[in-house]
Amino acid sequence: MPDRSSILGDYYYREAKRHGYRSRSALKLLEISDKFRIFRRGDVVVDLGSAPGGWLQVARQLAGDDGLVIGVDLAEIDPLPHENVILLRGDAGSPQLQDELVKLTGAAADVVTSDMAPKFTGIHDLDHGRQIALANVALEVAKMVLRPGGKMVLKVLMGADFEAFRKDVQRLFANVRVYKPNASRDSSSEVYFVCTRFSGPSGD
Ligand SMILES: C[S@@+](CC[C@H](N)C(=O)[O-])C[C@H]1O[C@@H](n2cnc3c(N)ncnc32)[C@H](O)[C@@H]1O
Repeated sequence: MPDRSSILGDYYYREAKRHGYRSRSALKLLEISDKFRIFRRGDVVVDLGSAPGGWLQVARQLAGDDGLVIGVDLAEIDPLPHENVILLRGDAGSPQLQDELVKLTGAAADVVTSDMAPKFTGIHDLDHGRQIALANVALEVAKMVLRPGGKMVLKVLMGADFEAFRKDVQRLFANVRVYKPNASRDSSSEVYFVCTRFSGPSGD
């Protein structure tokens, strides 16, 4: 007998397919955006860890024709059929790639999203540590490219370093919530930081 988590997993997978999204993860971002009003028409968005592109599709759909969506991944991403979606292949932690992001956004992005994930080993402490390291990279990128007042959506796995990381996030954003979307598997320890009112790179 399949458990609740696999039935729901199948359901979200089918729903994502039915709506033409490249990943079931897209439904998580849609849900977060609906609940917390993340995207607006015309937004400049940087999406870290974009492949295969489900979050990019959602960001492009909500930012519209006047927005600009920049996707970054180590892996190649199939192009989206929109001129205002730019894809960069590389490590979000590399200084060259970060310089390019600063140039493209003019250091005035409205939203940074990160669904970056390491290759999971199944050893929770190790996976959690690597995930927090990627979340720190995302936070560094946000400090470089977000405008004051900007927003961020950021994935982490629960674990020993979670509370210390939450404090780091709270130093940079006036409003920080932790949310687990319905579309996220019950069995997964992933949660998303939903952050608004970026205070500036030095946290003041
Ligand atoms: C869960 S997937 C993202 C799914 C995506 N949000 C979607 O909806 O299609 C995580 C991605 O993070 C990427 N990633 C991991 N480390 C990275 C890094 N240092 N720089 C850029 N991308 C990275 C992986 O290559 C992988 O494609």
